Amino acid sequence: MSVLAGAPANRDLGAPGTGLAVSARGVVRTFGDRAVLRGVDVELRPGEFVALLGRSGSGKTTFLRALAGLDRQVEGDIFVPAARSVVFQDPRLLPWATVLDNVVLGLAGGRRAAAAAGRAALAEVGLTGHEDDWPKTLSGGEAQRAALARALVRQPALLLLDEPFGALDALTRIRMHALVQQLHAHHAPAVLLVTHDVDEAILLADRALVLTDGAISLDVRVEVASPRLRRDPAFVDLRSRLLAELGVDEAAEGARALDGQASPPTHRDAPDPSPDRPSTDHPRTRSSR
Ligand SMILES: Nc1ncnc2c1ncn2[C@@H]1O[C@H](COP(=O)(O)OP(=O)(O)OP(=O)(O)O)[C@@H](O)[C@H]1O
Ligand SMILES: [Mg+2]
Repeated sequence: MSVLAGAPANRDLGAPGTGLAVSARGVVRTFGDRAVLRGVDVELRPGEFVALLGRSGSGKTTFLRALAGLDRQVEGDIFVPAARSVVFQDPRLLPWATVLDNVVLGLAGGRRAAAAAGRAALAEVGLTGHEDDWPKTLSGGEAQRAALARALVRQPALLLLDEPFGALDALTRIRMHALVQQLHAHHAPAVLLVTHDVDEAILLADRALVLTDGAISLDVRVEVASPRLRRDPAFVDLRSRLLAELGVDEAAEGARALDGQASPPTHRDAPDPSPDRPSTDHPRTRSSR
């Protein structure tokens, strides 16, 4: 494997000479005798927002960890920018540090400069006034915004998001979508968003990928006019195409949604093509370096 940290002269380019922020070729990851990734090829241009969909256990987190540089046993050619940040479904804030300290932890530069940058990042995610709070006093959405601030303060050229809204209620999720769009417009990192939610992918991404049997089985541009509305025929068509690629029977899903009218709105508003998925935070994948 060769992981080449982005050239210092151009922090946005992971693959110098190509104009690409990410170039991953022939990525293979095997656990025991099980090949989870069998040759994944993915490219991201600087500033491009790409959603990665796939059934539970298809290897999305495994691939994201490979791009993050968190897995040394992955094979293939991976070029990513040196400046990259990851946000997981679990905000992973240190309970013994304040919100501000969590955001600036390990940040290069002097303490005062780091604190100023941290405060600015917290302001961007709407958490001014929470700097000195303890993480356990934050709501789920606030904690996830703090995790976003921690990612952004590092000015990433590549932002890796692993189901960052998966644990949030439907309303908070909608607010987080707007925030991520705003932050992306302002900072323009390349983004790889892992999600189970097809609608979320269409709402946010420039391009959607589907991971099937260890390889990218579909790579499609999201061509839906802004503002992207779920009732737009282009939205509906793309949703059908992505659900079909994921092996989801739309008719059955629709019938189930109707049957479940009394169920909580999160379930209906955020259809999950893999409702039986196990927790993403598998103990074996939690370690970070
Ligand atoms: N460290 C590990 N050791 C052994 N198997 C692993 C390890 N990490 C992941 N796996 C296995 O690899 C497969 C892919 O896992 P991964 O977490 O990448 O899936 P995923 O697509 O992110 O799933 P989900 O949508 O449920 O989060 C799973 O079968 C998982 O059990
Ligand atoms: Mg996962």
